[in-house]
Amino acid sequence: MHPALKKQIDYNAKTLSLSDSYAEHRARVTERLLWAARELAGGADSLTILGCGNCNDLEPLVLQRQFRHIHLIDIDSHALSRARQRLESIGLPDVQCQEFELTGIFARAGCDRAADPRANSGVGDLIAASRMHASSIELLRSNCVVSSCVLSQLIDAVLSLVPQDAPDLADLIIELRRKHLATMLDCLHPGGAGLLVSDFVSSETLPELHTLPESELPRRLALAIEQGNFFTGCNPFAIFQQLLQLQTAGVVEQAGWSKPWLWNIADKRMAVNAFWFRKAARTPLISP
Ligand SMILES: C[S@@+](CC[C@H](N)C(=O)[O-])C[C@H]1O[C@@H](n2cnc3c(N)ncnc32)[C@H](O)[C@@H]1O
Repeated sequence: MHPALKKQIDYNAKTLSLSDSYAEHRARVTERLLWAARELAGGADSLTILGCGNCNDLEPLVLQRQFRHIHLIDIDSHALSRARQRLESIGLPDVQCQEFELTGIFARAGCDRAADPRANSGVGDLIAASRMHASSIELLRSNCVVSSCVLSQLIDAVLSLVPQDAPDLADLIIELRRKHLATMLDCLHPGGAGLLVSDFVSSETLPELHTLPESELPRRLALAIEQGNFFTGCNPFAIFQQLLQLQTAGVVEQAGWSKPWLWNIADKRMAVNAFWFRKAARTPLISP
């Protein structure tokens, strides 16, 4: 396995015991997911969780009340089995697991071995690999899909494959966001609801996140974004722009985003946004 993916798995092992510090974040993600399942997807009872990891950011008992069928997707087989056991132990009747690499980039020739960015071929090859990656997820469609704090990890892992001064880096980032939104849509039946939760800046570069009252977060975070203080590829305005493009193309029927909140990971804080959308009931001729 490529070291960048191994790092994700090690991180899941490290954060396994941090469930308590996630409590407030977990309540927010779960609340927004329930809202999307009921309001956008008409009381949906099937859910796909992309990059489920330890499932620390969803409340299992609330999931159990809303959903009968849950489909877990991650590269981490250990995290998948732990999450399945936890959900089954509280009475969820149908929990399916799929070990799946979401970008399609790490499977391409050479990438699985080369940890040195200069040993990999150009950004164009990575973009092509992402575009060619057939999604086997679509075989198991749900009425709801959630991706929580996964996009930043996907982008971070892929960017570790290329030199940071590589030409066309911006195109690669746009492609990774496009691909992730397309994967979410692939997971949905027509009319289904998607919730993309995305972390975009941490207290390591914005220490005020430790002290700011929640009412001041939107203003301060907008300023941080203007100053370029956000995770590469995770500018919330850029993500929402791509979502709006899908709406214009008729692939998505409704889209919106929430006010930011804070996710505590032990003594670190991350600012997070949630984007929601409803997949069009009828797919237009041109797909995203
Ligand atoms: C920060 S965690 C998300 C938090 C997680 N929901 C939890 O409660 O632990 C990101 C998840 O995405 C998964 N992931 C990262 N890169 C991936 C990839 N390329 N394909 C599939 N899953 C990936 C990681 O294994 C991890 O479980």
